[in-house]
Amino acid sequence: MSDNRCVDDFKAAPTQSRHIPRQTTFERPCTMGANQSRIRKRGENTSFHDAVAGESLDDVETAARSEDASNASMMGAGPARGRNGLTIALDGVGNEIKLGNGSSTKVILKSITGVISAGEMAAIMGPSGAGKTSLLDCISMRKTEGVMAGKILFDGVQPSLDTVKKYTAYVPQIEAFFGGATVYETILFAAMIKLPGTSAADVASKMERIEHVIDQMNLDKCRDTLVGSHIIRGISGGELKRLAVASSLCACNPRAMFLDEPTSGLDSTMAADVIKCLSRLQAEDGRTLLLTIHQPSMHVYQTFNKLILLSGGELTYFGNAGHHPMEFFATQGFTYEAGFNITEFLIDTVSQSSEACTSYYAKSSLCSENIKEVEEIALLKLPMNAVTINNEPGKDSPYAHGPLTELWIMIKFKDGPKWRYAVFWFTRCGLYMILAGLLSLFFYQQDRAPSGILNLNGIAFIACILPSFMAQVHTEEVKMEREVYTREFHDSFYRPGNYVASKIIAELPMTMLASIAFSAILYWCVGFNPSFSAFCFFVLTSFINFTIAQLIGCTISAAIPGEIGPASLLPIIATLNMLVGGFFIRAKTIHDMWKWLYTVSFIQWVWSALMVNEYQGRQFFDHCDSTTGGLDDLVDQLSLPESSVQSLRMFAANQNECDPITGESVLRTFSLESRNRWSSLLYASLSVPVYLFTFYLGVSRVRHEKR
Ligand SMILES: Nc1ncnc2c1ncn2[C@@H]1O[C@H](COP(=O)(O)OP(=O)(O)OP(=O)(O)O)[C@@H](O)[C@H]1O
Ligand SMILES: [Mg+2]
Repeated sequence: MSDNRCVDDFKAAPTQSRHIPRQTTFERPCTMGANQSRIRKRGENTSFHDAVAGESLDDVETAARSEDASNASMMGAGPARGRNGLTIALDGVGNEIKLGNGSSTKVILKSITGVISAGEMAAIMGPSGAGKTSLLDCISMRKTEGVMAGKILFDGVQPSLDTVKKYTAYVPQIEAFFGGATVYETILFAAMIKLPGTSAADVASKMERIEHVIDQMNLDKCRDTLVGSHIIRGISGGELKRLAVASSLCACNPRAMFLDEPTSGLDSTMAADVIKCLSRLQAEDGRTLLLTIHQPSMHVYQTFNKLILLSGGELTYFGNAGHHPMEFFATQGFTYEAGFNITEFLIDTVSQSSEACTSYYAKSSLCSENIKEVEEIALLKLPMNAVTINNEPGKDSPYAHGPLTELWIMIKFKDGPKWRYAVFWFTRCGLYMILAGLLSLFFYQQDRAPSGILNLNGIAFIACILPSFMAQVHTEEVKMEREVYTREFHDSFYRPGNYVASKIIAELPMTMLASIAFSAILYWCVGFNPSFSAFCFFVLTSFINFTIAQLIGCTISAAIPGEIGPASLLPIIATLNMLVGGFFIRAKTIHDMWKWLYTVSFIQWVWSALMVNEYQGRQFFDHCDSTTGGLDDLVDQLSLPESSVQSLRMFAANQNECDPITGESVLRTFSLESRNRWSSLLYASLSVPVYLFTFYLGVSRVRHEKR
């Protein structure tokens, strides 16, 4: 076991909470007071929503104790009962971004101060553009744009990014998953990669956890359904939201979860279903939940303990949910009329009277209480007790496994399952076979008369450049995966290098199969060099060529942000490589400006390898049946001017016997007479590490997400 971070949380939480009950273990009396006061405030809420969440704190404590009494060693068997949620204190949190050319700025969030206590479910509400997602991004340290102000404290401590990743989970509004995997496979991968340990006992405990989470998130009915994407029909929107939560739960057993609009796009029943699952997490596991939401139904609203109401990036309310906001707004003269939807009333009020509401709140005693409460928490400087966070930088790796174990898990659970899908076979192998079949129909059994040799050179060049155009498949695929790997990197699922490695390793057998299938069809149908060793060399060259093209396709999508860029760049690269390949423009006549490209272009080395393989040391007499040495055919095909035809005929007529066409003379036409097939292949292969590195750079350095 390389790292014990998640299992420690997962396994040890019940044991730890046994000795140090949540929020009641602080040694200093003032700490005790502060926490008691927070808990008391929460207790006031119970009259409104005790049916759903009011008893959660007590439940958690009781659950922890009864569990302790009954089974202290129940590690991983079922929920992490009694584990502690995080207390999140926001101290003047702000965010300001530069607009356009950078001359003007925009305040996205301003002085957000307040506390979300451990085990609470807090909702951030407000009109569209109020700053809800931005606040969630700031708290979860995902905000990448602008200048942040203020402090965010987790259990009284300013967390490092690693700490945030370790103890919290973020569920974005639109969750990105690999659409070809089933619900179960998606959760399985999250658990396998994020929870440490690979022994039989560890795997069994992960399986148990997966089953528990599937049950908790009510995903049993769709466990074998494909997740789906915009091209694959998959699970419903509500199931997708629940899958996102389930995947986070399996990934790191988080103490706090941040969810951006977990109910948007769902009907009221589905929305209530998702919230019901979330409130189970709060009630059963005591996790802190913070979510943004647009005008929830009354039923959903009742599950919230705390409400953060924003307007124009400023607070208009930060306090207990339930009836408290209505009372607060009533004191400002905005009276709630019974019968209306409370959240509608709140959003309408802060939208229409934004300035009045924000300035009223800023002067209110509620605001002062919030500031005081944050100050208390900041002053406590809690000694990170056993159940709270370990914030020491560098102490733990954010990854659950060592690099090799991680790679193995990725190949087995992430990339391996792709082999089951027909679309994977079709886009890799099937398309190449179809194209080889089509080309064979056009170039079937070429003879070795001059015209046949011209055709053979043509088809050899097509075989060289085809993979560069087929690389579009990989460009599109990585483009779709960018969102997934960006999230998974952020959640420290795996190292960027391993994303590249697992992708390439999982593709290698398919690339080998594709090159064998493609070559087997094309080579024998066209009638290339009949030697078996020449055929094997053709297969090997195709394999290298396919791999390079695939790496270029992947690099482009990883390195070029946006949708249009990658799709436009690939044809440009393919065309440039094609032009310096040596077939269309003879090597000697390539403009000086492009000589460097000729030298480094893998296509020209692949072409050279194939041509030498085909022609070196060979002689052709197939044209001897014709009195003009096969010249008539060639003249017909080339449509040369009459003067040229006459000179050619004179040249042919001067021959007294059938001179062979030598392979060397063909190679000389393309300035390839001094080339060696193996060294050409070696030079072509040098592009593999180059493009592997550029792919890695793209994956690890280029940010595709701006928040
Ligand atoms: N990186 C950014 N660059 C420019 N503007 C930004 C950026 N991030 C946020 N904003 C702006 O900040 C404001 C708040 O955005 P945010 O996404 O937080 O709103 P929201 O309350 O989540 O809205 P919605 O309910 O529509 O999701 C918006 O006006 C948005 O345009
Ligand atoms: Mg939003």
